[in-house]
Amino acid sequence: MKTVLLIGSGGQVGQELQSTLSSIAQVIPIPRESLDLTQLDRVRETIQKTCPHLIINAAAYTAVDRAESEPELATVINSDAPTVMAEEAAQMGAALIHISTDYVFDGSKNTPYTETDRPNPIGAYGKSKLLGEQGIQQVHATVPEFRYVILRTAWVYGALGKSNFVKTMLRLGSDREEVRVVSDQVGTPTWAADIAKAITVLSSHWLSIEAEDPTTDRVTSGIYHFTNSGVTSWYDFAVAIFEEAAAIGFPLKLQRVVPITTAEYPTPTQRPAYSALAWQKIAAILNSPPPHWRQGLRQMLTQLYTQTYESNYSLRR
Ligand SMILES: NC(=O)c1ccc[n+]([C@@H]2O[C@H](COP(=O)([O-])OP(=O)(O)OC[C@H]3O[C@@H](n4cnc5c(N)ncnc54)[C@H](OP(=O)(O)O)[C@@H]3O)[C@@H](O)[C@H]2O)c1
Repeated sequence: MKTVLLIGSGGQVGQELQSTLSSIAQVIPIPRESLDLTQLDRVRETIQKTCPHLIINAAAYTAVDRAESEPELATVINSDAPTVMAEEAAQMGAALIHISTDYVFDGSKNTPYTETDRPNPIGAYGKSKLLGEQGIQQVHATVPEFRYVILRTAWVYGALGKSNFVKTMLRLGSDREEVRVVSDQVGTPTWAADIAKAITVLSSHWLSIEAEDPTTDRVTSGIYHFTNSGVTSWYDFAVAIFEEAAAIGFPLKLQRVVPITTAEYPTPTQRPAYSALAWQKIAAILNSPPPHWRQGLRQMLTQLYTQTYESNYSLRR
């Protein structure tokens, strides 16, 4: 079996990838505890020691607001480290799948962003992620046979991992009668498990083709957009979370979700007002459109309910 070095195996997407990849490859999970991405020499050493066929980078500095006060740290983790991964992968003939974000766009469009749209990040997190994309692309420009995918996704949530919008809404909804949520930011909530499935399909293409016959490769190097399908606002997403959660049986105190504007909820960083991504390019490889965001939400909540109420798992962990 071929080997996949899974960097960031403890994150939301990383944990899902551990299970989806295990049927197609020998996975070497690398959580934060065993590799700190700020130590670039250790990143090189880990890749050289394990000599994988494929590197997947699911690790990132994802604290969007905190990045405004720690831009250098965000840049080391989101740009310098993935660039080192690309250099090492190119050197040893391994492929790289790296995850990026809708926040590389400024949000001034009102139709889904395609892979050829010009990025123009408006916050430190988006800037650091764009630098990471560019670092990987520069390595490919120097070593054209180096195979990489930059998979941009958006509004990620999952039952595994620490915190996300869905878990926050459930916590607030169990404590309060009213929750206020911004209604003028639009995008697509995406279930981490669906991202993991898409990455696993891409991985299986690359792990099964013969290195000496790249003409069999349907996955050409470049940027791909993957989110669930459909478009919504954070407010409508919150309403859907409470509807689905109530139907599944989560105990909720909540009576009202109140729509507010971004101006009424100031945050340290500006977020794009519109960041839906066009996923048609990757759908041609996956042979199907991504599942609708509401379907992903229902499946995630069902999984979370089982974890929460049918085991000792706690939402507050
Ligand atoms: N979350 C979103 O809404 C969203 C939206 C668009 C794109 N993305 C992208 O999707 C990818 C996966 O995100 P996710 O939601 O799964 O994020 P996540 O749950 O925050 O996972 C990221 C992982 O990276 C680890 N990490 C952070 N700093 C590190 C360091 N210095 N060294 C080693 N590991 C470190 C984190 O560890 P700790 O948990 O210990 O910090 C965590 O395990 C990322 O590339 C992210 O930029 C996410």
